Amino acid sequence: PREDKTDLYALLDAAANWYQQQLPKNPDAQAYCRKRGLDADTIARFRLGWAPAGFDGVIKALGSNERRMQLLNEAGMVASNERGNKYDRFRERLMFPILDRRGRVIAFGGRVLQSEQGPKYLNSPETPLFHKGRELFALWQVKQANAKLERIVVVEGYMDVIALHQAGLPIAVATLGTATTPEHTEILFRAAPDVVFCFDGDRAGRAAAWKALDAALPRLRDGRQAYFLFLPDGEDPDSLVRKEGRDGFEKRIREATPLSDYFFGELSHDVNLSSLDGRARLAERARPLIARLPDGAFRDLMAQELEKRS
Ligand code: CTP
Ligand code: MN
Ligand code: MN
Ligand code: MN
Ligand code: MN
Repeated sequence: PREDKTDLYALLDAAANWYQQQLPKNPDAQAYCRKRGLDADTIARFRLGWAPAGFDGVIKALGSNERRMQLLNEAGMVASNERGNKYDRFRERLMFPILDRRGRVIAFGGRVLQSEQGPKYLNSPETPLFHKGRELFALWQVKQANAKLERIVVVEGYMDVIALHQAGLPIAVATLGTATTPEHTEILFRAAPDVVFCFDGDRAGRAAAWKALDAALPRLRDGRQAYFLFLPDGEDPDSLVRKEGRDGFEKRIREATPLSDYFFGELSHDVNLSSLDGRARLAERARPLIARLPDGAFRDLMAQELEKRS
């Protein structure tokens, strides 16, 4: 295990700079940014860039010697073929640098411009700097924009975060193509007392919401509150904030469903509460989850609520 990660941070910062420099040189990438409604200020603030075609752009720019190739490898910036030859991991992709809480580049996400060009997003692998289960995209930008944060919104994707920030809601972060983990929820609640989970209005989004609830349960103490915002079918925060504007989306955030309502609603949806048998089913489902709440008023009230309903 390496002690000093300074070189890795420096290398990833140089990579971000290099991708940023490539963006203005590629008309397709420029056109794509325009099509997605990204303005120049947003592109700069999120340090968006372009990974050009070819297999050795980053390698030529940053891998001039064996030591630096070793660092590129450790940073997840190169992949190797069966013969052990190294090549750029990110090619022909719009690049989204992932920053840590202190604003240092630790990884990248890259999007193809057209869906035929392979998996839509490619992310850096786990590296000594990047642990997906602990990082939240744009947490640094959120902290920069808000001296005191009352509420933080968790969305699914890079473009969702960026669209919300650009629309004037710089309170959005994203998990990075992974389920929300208990570590994520702890980081979120340290950032703000109210956490709003907002996932896409599709099946995957609804499944992600329940996973987020599960991850949040053990962290719900000291007046922390979790909310769930369910979007209309087929919409995501990016598409919706463009339709409804900042105020419309903010209204949805304010009216998000408290965790307790989502909890009992979801556990009761296929239960006939007018029969003892149905109420028993609800109780069997709810008890082990309520038991995972920390001691405190919230757990007491959730247990009471279950008593009332069952
Ligand atoms: N994701 C990923 N790999 C994929 C697809 C998705 O890592 N092949 C992650 C990305 O972080 C993505 C998020 O899951 O942003 C949500 O996926 P999706 O809703 O499909 O993408 P959008 O963010 O809506 O992307 P876009 O609007 O650019 O199409
Ligand atoms: Mn989706
Ligand atoms: Mn989208
Ligand atoms: Mn989406
Ligand atoms: Mn009863």
